[in-house]
Amino acid sequence: LEFFMEHYKLAFIGFGNVGQALARLLQSKEYELKEKYNITFSITAIATGNHGQAIDPNGIDVVDALRTAKHDGDFSSLSRSPAPANTLSLIRTCKADVLFENSPVNYKTGQPAVKHIRTALECGMHALTANKGPVVHAYHQLTALADKQRKKFYFESTVMDGAPIFALFRSALPAANVHTIKGVLNSTTNMILTQMEGGESFDDAVAYCQKIGIAETDPSGDVDGWDAAIKLSALITVLMGIPTKPTQIQREGIRDITLDKIATAKAKGMRWKLVCTARREGMSVHARVAPEMVGPESPLYTLTGTTSIAQFETNVLGMLSIIESDPSPQTTAYGLLADLLNAISGK
Ligand SMILES: NC(=O)c1ccc[n+]([C@@H]2O[C@H](COP(=O)([O-])OP(=O)(O)OC[C@H]3O[C@@H](n4cnc5c(N)ncnc54)[C@H](OP(=O)(O)O)[C@@H]3O)[C@@H](O)[C@H]2O)c1
Repeated sequence: LEFFMEHYKLAFIGFGNVGQALARLLQSKEYELKEKYNITFSITAIATGNHGQAIDPNGIDVVDALRTAKHDGDFSSLSRSPAPANTLSLIRTCKADVLFENSPVNYKTGQPAVKHIRTALECGMHALTANKGPVVHAYHQLTALADKQRKKFYFESTVMDGAPIFALFRSALPAANVHTIKGVLNSTTNMILTQMEGGESFDDAVAYCQKIGIAETDPSGDVDGWDAAIKLSALITVLMGIPTKPTQIQREGIRDITLDKIATAKAKGMRWKLVCTARREGMSVHARVAPEMVGPESPLYTLTGTTSIAQFETNVLGMLSIIESDPSPQTTAYGLLADLLNAISGK
């Protein structure tokens, strides 16, 4: 990668786990970005849902921003000019070069993230996100708008965090047509099933995942298969080119997997996994998320804890598998940093 020395003004929409991890990663890579990639940056805008907004053309101090987030403070105290009334007006007025959209996912409509990204592209920014909503609800429209504006709409972290999937097909695998996708894409359910194999009840396993911070207070997005379904939808939409929403995926979660079923599988030398499958049939796709028993001959069998896998069958290679261990907000942040470097180098 080669760059001229360039300064980039960054806007953060959402400053939760992912936004903060990205700010820390940028801070720790500041020297490397300057020396190796000739890039300097400043964070000129931060928007939150309920913790105010900050705008500063000279750059918001990253340490101040992280401290404000840690103490549940209000970001308007960091704003140089009066903070805009809402996120959209912040995007329109902040004059940033790059927007990072990391607000909560909306499975049903993708909003308000779709509007945030559309507005950023209209204002001439690259739009980079870990939010799956805009990918499954507006991938083709947003990509067309980005092309028209000669900017990028990238979203590497939406599936398997920082592991390269979209960039891999975009850059390293030209003319590879994806026929089937198979994977374990939700780490929380894989951890629940792993804990149950150790003898814990379903409720105790969910409580354990909540305790270590990988399951929400309401775990239904994970245990009912919605998170897996939206990730599979994103892969189908982008890699197969067939717009697909999570409601179009045949979906069954893991609530019916009992300790008895786990013991029966174990007696047969098998394990339960929440498996995502998509098979292209002409211009349509057959896709489902459901618990399946897998044996030791499958790479899915070896996955424990939060490890995930995506496998791709194309018309040019044999089965290609990507496995990611120990995902965290830091690995998600890396996917966004990779998107940033790829977007500004036109890759
Ligand atoms: N956590 C992960 O490791 C991970 C991995 C892959 C993808 N993701 C995706 O990344 C996104 C962020 O996840 P997260 O874990 O960082 O979530 P989070 O901790 O809940 O943070 C969400 C942030 O968005 C802000 N926000 C809410 N509504 C907003 C709005 N209308 N305008 C501007 N900001 C708004 C929130 O502000 P308030 O706190 O004031 O409401 C908060 O700062 C989600 O879409 C998630 O699915 C996360």
